[in-house]
Amino acid sequence: MARVPDVRGFNNVVFFTGAGMSAESGVPTYRGKGGIWKEYDYDNCACQEAFDRDPEYVWEFHNYRRELVSKCQPNDGHRWIARCERELAGPNKRVTVITQNIDGLHQAAGSETVIELHGSLWKLRCCVCDWRAEDLSAPLRELRCPQCEEAGRADVYKRPDIVWFGDSLANSNLVAVQEALTRCDLLISIGTSAVVYPAAQMPLIAKRGGALLVEVNPEETPLSDIYDVAIRGTATKALAAMCGGLDEAAS
Ligand code: APR
Repeated sequence: MARVPDVRGFNNVVFFTGAGMSAESGVPTYRGKGGIWKEYDYDNCACQEAFDRDPEYVWEFHNYRRELVSKCQPNDGHRWIARCERELAGPNKRVTVITQNIDGLHQAAGSETVIELHGSLWKLRCCVCDWRAEDLSAPLRELRCPQCEEAGRADVYKRPDIVWFGDSLANSNLVAVQEALTRCDLLISIGTSAVVYPAAQMPLIAKRGGALLVEVNPEETPLSDIYDVAIRGTATKALAAMCGGLDEAAS
């Protein structure tokens, strides 16, 4: 196994994050102990069929999540990643976050180049018209699409702009992901169980391009074998180990 890398030695760094990234902020993960899918059935609250059947219940679930996440702050791991972008990115150097998380905590910590693979808890759209909006209120109280209402349809609900089970990933995101992963020389995967596709296999694109692959997760995952370095610890500790050199540069 290769040694824990120092991010300063690379030109194109991709942080590929999952729910474990925000665990230390108090946002529950999906699987494992205390996982969201242990308590809620995603067939009833996180797919288009459920929304078509019972939008009020789906909104109850998403409002519960909006309220919970709105009380959480970015953790030191989010902050290290944002700092990497601020201090390392330049004319020939890039730092990109590809996240499966919908909580917005990378952006709240200051990261600017963030690809939200699974959408955002704070973005809304309409399934009937082209209405879209960003709304940070928690809970969201006005659930009907204002544009449809104006056009005489008061029964149309806003939909969270989240990639639910059975939805496709946005094409623009797939293109951006391909581009970022093809050119990266260091991929750091943090806090993902690597069981949800197509996201799970994306680090393979970086591997094929010759990047060094690091997995940060207290537990092994089904894709652990593809990684060059495994850090079996938490996101905040692992990021401090890989990014701590930035302090030297600053002093
Ligand atoms: N630091 C790093 N990793 C952690 C930490 C931590 N502090 N705490 C937990 N983990 C790890 C767990 O060991 C687990 O492997 O984070 C992982 C979280 O896995 P999941 O809950 O499955 O989250 P994720 O991989 O992001 O889920 C993928 O599933 O339901 C969908 O759309 C949802 O984007 C989500 C997708």
